[in-house]
Amino acid sequence: MSAEQLPLKVNGVVKRYRQGSNVIEALRGVQLTIRPGEFIAIMGASGSGKSTLLHVMAGLTDVDAGQVLVDGRDLATLSDVQLTSFRRDHIGLVFQAFNLIPALSAEDNIRLPAVDGPELTAKVNALLDRLGMRQRRTHKPGALSGGEQQRIAIARALVCDPAVVLADEPTGSLDSVSGQEICRLLRELCDEQGRTIAIVTHEPHVAMWADRVVVLKDGANLTEFAPSDQRDPQDLAARYQFALAPVSEANR
Ligand SMILES: Nc1ncnc2c1ncn2[C@@H]1O[C@H](COP(=O)(O)OP(=O)(O)OP(=O)(O)O)[C@@H](O)[C@H]1O
Ligand SMILES: [Mg+2]
Repeated sequence: MSAEQLPLKVNGVVKRYRQGSNVIEALRGVQLTIRPGEFIAIMGASGSGKSTLLHVMAGLTDVDAGQVLVDGRDLATLSDVQLTSFRRDHIGLVFQAFNLIPALSAEDNIRLPAVDGPELTAKVNALLDRLGMRQRRTHKPGALSGGEQQRIAIARALVCDPAVVLADEPTGSLDSVSGQEICRLLRELCDEQGRTIAIVTHEPHVAMWADRVVVLKDGANLTEFAPSDQRDPQDLAARYQFALAPVSEANR
C-alpha cells in the first residue's frame, strides 16, 4: 500500500442496463467521495443501486456517464489489461457468498490472486495469523464455518495489499456474532492499516461500525449521516427509515 493515497471519487455516475428494448437506469448521477482511511456503509432499499455502485467503484462494470477515480486514476482511461492489474493492486473485493474455490485449501484460496514466490508465503502466513486462521490453513472451504470462510475471503482480498476494500453485504450470510466479528476486523483494517473501506449492508448493527452511512434511493444519493451521532443500532435504523419515508406530522 503506497503511503499517500487519494480519495476515491464517484462523479455524477450514470449506469444503465439494457435488456432488449428495456433500459433500467440503476445509477442516476451518483456523487461520492471517500477519503483515504475512511470506512463507509452504503444502505438503501433492494434495487436502489448499491451493488451496481460497488461494481462501478471496483471497475467491474463500465459507466454510461460520469467518472470513477481510484487513487487518482480515472478507471475509464485504462485498457482491459491495465484495469485488471490496477484492480489487483488497488482494490480488494469481498462478497456475501464468499466466492471461495471449493477444491482449494484456505491457504491456496488466499494465494490465488497473487504472484507466487517466497514473499507471498510470508504474506499469507501473516494474514492467516492476523485473521486467527493459522490452524485452518489446510481446510477446504466446505470444512470451515461461514465466519471462517469470510475471513479467508477477506485475506484473499488483502493479499495484494489494496488500499481500497469493497464488500457487498459481507455479513449477509453470517449469524450475528460472526457478522460482528467480521465488522470488527474491517474496522481494524481501517484503523490500524489505513485501508479505505466501503461496504453495502442492510443491517443497522453492521452500519454502526462505519464512519459514515450513505443512503441511496432509486439510483441516486438520498442522504448521509454519521453512525457516531446515533446512540445505538435501533437509532440508526430509525434515522435510516425516516430518510426513506419521512413521516409528516400531518399523517400522524
Ligand atoms: N445485470 C443487470 N441487468 C439488468 N438489470 C440489472 C442488472 N443488475 C442490476 N440490475 C437492475 O439495476 C437496479 C439496481 O440493482 P442493484 O443490484 O445495484 O441493487 P441493490 O441495491 O444492490 O439491491 P439488493 O439490495 O437487492 O442487492 C435494479 O433495478 C436491478 O434490477
Ligand atoms: Mg445488491
